[in-house]
Amino acid sequence: MSGTAQAGLFGYIVELFTGAKSPTNVPVVEAKKPKRQQPKPLPPKTKPTKPKPPAPEYRKITNFAGKSFRVGEKIETPTGLKMKVVAKLEDGRRGRVVKATDKSGRIAVLKIPIDRRADTLESIAKEMTKISALEKYGIRHAKVYEQAEDYLVKEYIDGQRADEWLVDWEKKGSPTNTPEVRALLRFFREAAAKGIYIGDLNRKNMIFDGSEWVVIDSGGVKKRSPEIAAAEYRDKMVEKWSRSFRHLDDGLNEKACGVLQNLLDKGLKSIK
Ligand SMILES: Nc1ncnc2c1ncn2[C@@H]1O[C@H](COP(=O)(O)OP(=O)(O)O)[C@@H](O)[C@H]1O
Ligand SMILES: [Mg+2]
Repeated sequence: MSGTAQAGLFGYIVELFTGAKSPTNVPVVEAKKPKRQQPKPLPPKTKPTKPKPPAPEYRKITNFAGKSFRVGEKIETPTGLKMKVVAKLEDGRRGRVVKATDKSGRIAVLKIPIDRRADTLESIAKEMTKISALEKYGIRHAKVYEQAEDYLVKEYIDGQRADEWLVDWEKKGSPTNTPEVRALLRFFREAAAKGIYIGDLNRKNMIFDGSEWVVIDSGGVKKRSPEIAAAEYRDKMVEKWSRSFRHLDDGLNEKACGVLQNLLDKGLKSIK
């Protein structure tokens, strides 16, 4: 065997064992550097999402004191009475009153304490005692549908409040023979005849419903002799009610007060 043939055979054997090609017939390809891969950001940790239960249609209220309500809001009392707020009526010194309808379409007012101060809470809690006294003596009042420590649901009285009526009445020249005037004298005569003086009957606490004056809020009911009760209404009501005339002309103011006083004097004279 020649030297060249020997070398060729050797190369062949090497190639056979190592798989290495001779550098002459294999193009040298530089191995690509693997790209350094950025670590993938981990997906944010989220709790497995449960489908949210739909918000309840009615907001269940357990503590009423100091709460506010939106018109259109649906609320539920602890007993399950469901109501929709249809109007905000008034924020008084202690009470917040809204008009609401219940599922049967009944129109009511919801009265709650305006804050959580002890005297505010107490005044609402005591309201039921005053209402029971009106009930006992058969005085027409807003009936209570439901009550607890910090709220009352009462009959809504549709009509004109005494303060608004007084202004209208005065503008008309204080006529003495109108349904409102007759009902007013009837109201005081009957209360006096029953021997009760109803405290704090201010002009925002009575509503004329078209036939009767209805008490929507009051002070306590005090037992008196009919004569004394009559004298108390005669002496106190004009002073109490004349306040709504203050923003009007003085002359008229006095005239209207005089007419009202005269009506009460005459109307309550014969109560014994
Ligand atoms: N039963 C009702 N029907 C109609 N309006 C009412 C009724 N109760 C209250 N209101 C309205 O809300 C206002 C305040 O109510 P009220 O009970 O007198 O509260 P406060 O204790 O603050 O004086 C009343 O003057 C009246 O306009
Ligand atoms: Mg009042």
